[in-house]
Amino acid sequence: MAKQEDIFKNVVSHAKEYGFIFPSSEVYDGLSAVYDYAQNGVELKKNIREYWWKSMVQMNDNIVGLDAAILMHPTTWKASGHVDAFNDPLIDNKDSKKRYRADVLVEDFAEKINQKAQKEIEKARARFGDAFNEEEFVTTNTRVVEYLSKYKEILSRLAKGMTDNLQDVKALIEELEIADPETGSKNWTDVKQFNLMFGTKLGASADSAMDLYLRPETAQGIFVNFLNVQKSGRMKVPFGIAQTGKAFRNEIVARQFIFRMREFEQMEMQFFVRPGEEMQWYHHWKETRLKWHLSLGLGKENYRFHDHEKLAHYANAAADIEFNFPFGFKELEGIHSRTDFDLKAHEQYSGRKLQYFDPELNENYVPYVVETSVGLDRMFLAVFATSLQEETLEDGSTRTVLKLPAVLAPTKAAVLPLVKKDGLPDIAKKIIDDLKWDFNVAYDEKDAVGRRYRRQDALGTPFCITVDHQTIEDETVTIRHRDTMKQDRVKISELRAIIEDEVSMKNWLMKM
Ligand code: GAP
Repeated sequence: MAKQEDIFKNVVSHAKEYGFIFPSSEVYDGLSAVYDYAQNGVELKKNIREYWWKSMVQMNDNIVGLDAAILMHPTTWKASGHVDAFNDPLIDNKDSKKRYRADVLVEDFAEKINQKAQKEIEKARARFGDAFNEEEFVTTNTRVVEYLSKYKEILSRLAKGMTDNLQDVKALIEELEIADPETGSKNWTDVKQFNLMFGTKLGASADSAMDLYLRPETAQGIFVNFLNVQKSGRMKVPFGIAQTGKAFRNEIVARQFIFRMREFEQMEMQFFVRPGEEMQWYHHWKETRLKWHLSLGLGKENYRFHDHEKLAHYANAAADIEFNFPFGFKELEGIHSRTDFDLKAHEQYSGRKLQYFDPELNENYVPYVVETSVGLDRMFLAVFATSLQEETLEDGSTRTVLKLPAVLAPTKAAVLPLVKKDGLPDIAKKIIDDLKWDFNVAYDEKDAVGRRYRRQDALGTPFCITVDHQTIEDETVTIRHRDTMKQDRVKISELRAIIEDEVSMKNWLMKM
């Protein structure tokens, strides 16, 4: 089996080779942790966004959309807590001059110890087979007990240091003798907080310019518009406001391709509820969002919840939906019960009331908020990496196939004339002209048909439609299915219905 690292390298190179994702400004050697979506990537990304929008906005009569500006009044970020608390703890190595996130250094160290325990567990599982009792093993095997207790101790000391005193985090790094991963040096500076927001300026002259920030999340655009939307849309609690859009964070540890970027896109929804009813809605959205992910068919085993034990100051419950990326389970989406923190903070800083009059209770209150927040780029990576497969065929040859959920595929069908003569290209182009009103379709006449099939497999195109000499006689074509490679002879007039059945959002979302 290919190593995780190799699989991931393959994902990155396939994304580039087939026109999905390029490094930003590559002619200047790129810009770290910034990427461009290419001709096929932009279609896949748009389809994921639409799949989300359809399920959140169009399918819920109490959720409406919004497209707030990226630039917002700077007080927004004071009220939200981002100016004072949106920080990463950084540490520099004095010898290498490299900068790291102190908490990540400790977490990576702890994870290595955890991995030793997991290895022992797997060895024992293989040895004892069905008779293996994992619960008993992890509490009685002295080596495993020692590893796991060390692992937990490190993480709990890290958590305490992060809240109480960053000097304790530095002391922990020194005590564990954690070295610079690149140079091995243990010569560290103190740990310092570093704000992740990008600053910019509004205004013409240097003295009168106003300091602004590029938004680090889309959510605040929703909070400050809460009353505008509620009043103009005559919305009744419970109701939601959804938006998709760019967010910016000056991430220090930016690695893993599009998993952690400095410019990325979020798809967020704030659901405004009666105080006291937030937990019921929190559970509702946790389940609903998981069902949305599962509807894409990437495998139930690839998702898990991670309920937060340590909560942000504004939350009374929070969970991540984690996905099994090529580098392990990591956060894909967050579901947070944010109480009335944000609206109250904006009331306080703006001096305006952000309250709702509940006609059933005959009272005013600041609604509580349950938020769902998923990274569009992380969704892209989850879908793309899981879909990219190498298959060995019956004749021993291999093929690379991108088994994207058909609803998300950039191109739904490619139309291929068997040869470039005898009028076949004209028929193929006529089919394209007919289908392109409903689907993104492509024309391909270059190379032998087998190679063209392989190219479309690698692009994730669910159908290849081949026009041959029989087409001239009876208006039939062959339609080849990407995943099974099965070919059927069908009438040209049936094509639309066959494609529609497989790619329609309705059919996919009905699986929720
Ligand atoms: N409004 C809540 C919020 O922004 P978050 O957990 O910081 O919460 C939500 O971000 C989601 O945005 C994450 O689950 C992740 O999918 C995505 N995300 C966050 N930072 C990102 C980054 N640097 N690059 C790509 N996606 C990111």
